[in-house]
Amino acid sequence: MSVMDTLKNVPKQLLSKAEEATKDWSAEQKRLTGAVVATAVAASGVTFLAMRLAGRSNSGAGVRPDSHSKSSDIYESEASARQYMEFHYTPSKESYTQRLRAVSEASDFPTRLAHKFHTYLKPGKRGLRGLDVGCATGASVLEMSKVFDGGVVGIDFSEVFIHLAKEVAAMPKSGKKVLYTAPVQGEITEPRELELPRGVHPERCAFYAGDAMDMFEEDHKMEKTVSNRYSDVTYWQAKKGEKFDGVLCLNLIDRVPDPQRLIHSFGRLVEKEGVLILADPYSWWEDATPKAKWLGGTRDGARSEEVIVAALKKEFELLSESDEGFLIRDHIRHYQLGFSHCTVWRKK
Ligand SMILES: C[S@@+](CC[C@H](N)C(=O)[O-])C[C@H]1O[C@@H](n2cnc3c(N)ncnc32)[C@H](O)[C@@H]1O
Repeated sequence: MSVMDTLKNVPKQLLSKAEEATKDWSAEQKRLTGAVVATAVAASGVTFLAMRLAGRSNSGAGVRPDSHSKSSDIYESEASARQYMEFHYTPSKESYTQRLRAVSEASDFPTRLAHKFHTYLKPGKRGLRGLDVGCATGASVLEMSKVFDGGVVGIDFSEVFIHLAKEVAAMPKSGKKVLYTAPVQGEITEPRELELPRGVHPERCAFYAGDAMDMFEEDHKMEKTVSNRYSDVTYWQAKKGEKFDGVLCLNLIDRVPDPQRLIHSFGRLVEKEGVLILADPYSWWEDATPKAKWLGGTRDGARSEEVIVAALKKEFELLSESDEGFLIRDHIRHYQLGFSHCTVWRKK
């Protein structure tokens, strides 16, 4: 139930009392209290609302105890209230057991999804070229190098990711070890030494900084060509008419300011009969994408899965649709588990 739905069920006298008590509050104070009100009304009935609001007005608007910290702010949000009500009161078998079965299949997300090109690229053609938009540190690009014998380009907005991906791809030539550390607990990390996956062709891989919102030189030529921080990192844009036999884009749609623009660019980047592999968990977040630009996921709107499929159908044929698990380690006792909606397409 939303805050507004909840408030519809509150008697009118109580609401006018609440309005009186909160008239000097800022919009933010009202928003945060709205979440508590919604939760409280849903869980305990309207008496709690009156107590809560009266308490606030007596102790002075917005005054918080001394123990107030950034972490307590997080737990005042409507999203947190919703998440914890679900965590505490919905039996796990209703809420997520089905999903948890897939944990064991959630490993190696970037390579697992890039591997799908083996299945969907038409056999026989030589000199195939691939592109990975938002490639991060490059494991999927290395996997693509097994089938794209004409070369694979990986682009990412993060210059440090691209610098690291280049170091990995240069290993056979440079003979340098790539060392990194994995998060363990707080400031404690454990050392790792990277081993190149078997069967990959690093010499076919080219990594560049790039912006998924500004990929076409003919639309707008980027001024920046070289990174200020890493001398080995340069910027990429597609040349006029440049196309690829396979394009991969994993977990980027919900991280760009204009996802529709990104979706539209695939039609320009994929060759006729070429393959597009897309995946995204649709974790819409206003810091990355203004709500007006979300593709689905708004209160009254359609599901993102449907919006994405409808947007691509004109130019592409849908070959497969699946949910693909991914697991990212925060530290040894905490992981992010997600399920991306994955679609594979052939360009008409
Ligand atoms: C959630 S991560 C996914 C990374 C990788 N595709 C994977 O599946 O592991 C999103 C990636 O997109 C990159 N990114 C964000 N905005 C971008 C943009 N406008 N253009 C290109 N890359 C971008 C980030 O730097 C990050 O590497």
